[in-house]
Amino acid sequence: MSTKTIIITGASRGLGLAIAQDAAALGASVAMFARSAELLAQEAQNIRDAGGAALAVPGDISQLADCRRLVEKTMSNFGRIDSIVHNAGMLEPIAPIAEADPAVWQQNLMTNLLGPMMLTQAALPYLRQNRGRVIHVSSGAATYAIAGWSAYCATKGGLNQLSRALAIEEELVTSLAVRPGVVDTEMQALIRTLGAEGMPEAAYQRFLNLKEKGELLPPEVPGGTLAVLALYAPREWDGDFLSWDEERVQELVRMYATRGD
Ligand SMILES: NC(=O)c1ccc[n+]([C@@H]2O[C@H](COP(=O)([O-])OP(=O)(O)OC[C@H]3O[C@@H](n4cnc5c(N)ncnc54)[C@H](OP(=O)(O)O)[C@@H]3O)[C@@H](O)[C@H]2O)c1
Repeated sequence: MSTKTIIITGASRGLGLAIAQDAAALGASVAMFARSAELLAQEAQNIRDAGGAALAVPGDISQLADCRRLVEKTMSNFGRIDSIVHNAGMLEPIAPIAEADPAVWQQNLMTNLLGPMMLTQAALPYLRQNRGRVIHVSSGAATYAIAGWSAYCATKGGLNQLSRALAIEEELVTSLAVRPGVVDTEMQALIRTLGAEGMPEAAYQRFLNLKEKGELLPPEVPGGTLAVLALYAPREWDGDFLSWDEERVQELVRMYATRGD
């Protein structure tokens, strides 16, 4: 079994929770981070009940003190940090630039982009020790624009660049950005609720159709892939922007998905 320790942000629900469950099932110790303290504690307990090693650290990724505390708690509890999965994220504001609330835009920037930078910075001394991996959960919207999503597109595009900058600056750390596909989580539910107001009709309808046709991915499908990447992504992929379902990624998953070490 692996004794590696992975920090997973946004682990209270959705994709992040699935990554934590899968990483624990692969034998990793998981430090789970999100703001919903009770929910997070319950999910960490569920993982421990299933035989895994899990620690709940409640906090807000946009706050420097919380990022530093997450690293300290992980170190005092597990004694090492091998990987971070920067998964915590928000979509809002869903509104055209002409109408978007700058305060919500700023919150998006701090959650989706500044938060990952602050957490990586706090954990770097430990990541270097273990030749660690940093996985940035990105989006197709990092590379093309969706009307009504200016903050999300800008911060996910920025996250890809943060990942590339980390790759060239830190020789001992492997950094990747990964698009997880379109996943059946609360973020998708939010699009279906708020999208009618803030998005053009055609773009909004596309997301309604994906749900109606059952074409959204269950979180555990890309979640399992992200857990394998956090543990085993090859060094040669350093700096790459990957899609969860591309062949080289799924080949890695087939190789490692049931293996601990
Ligand atoms: N769903 C999709 O189709 C899709 C597609 C492409 C990319 N993604 C990306 O996948 C990641 C996970 O999204 P999801 O779909 O699972 O969404 P979700 O269900 O809304 O989950 C978001 C998670 O992030 C946490 N979070 C949000 N703001 C936070 C903050 N300030 N500090 C700490 N934690 C925070 C939330 O927990 P608390 O509220 O408890 O803090 C929750 O655990 C995001 O980065 C998203 O952009 C999703």
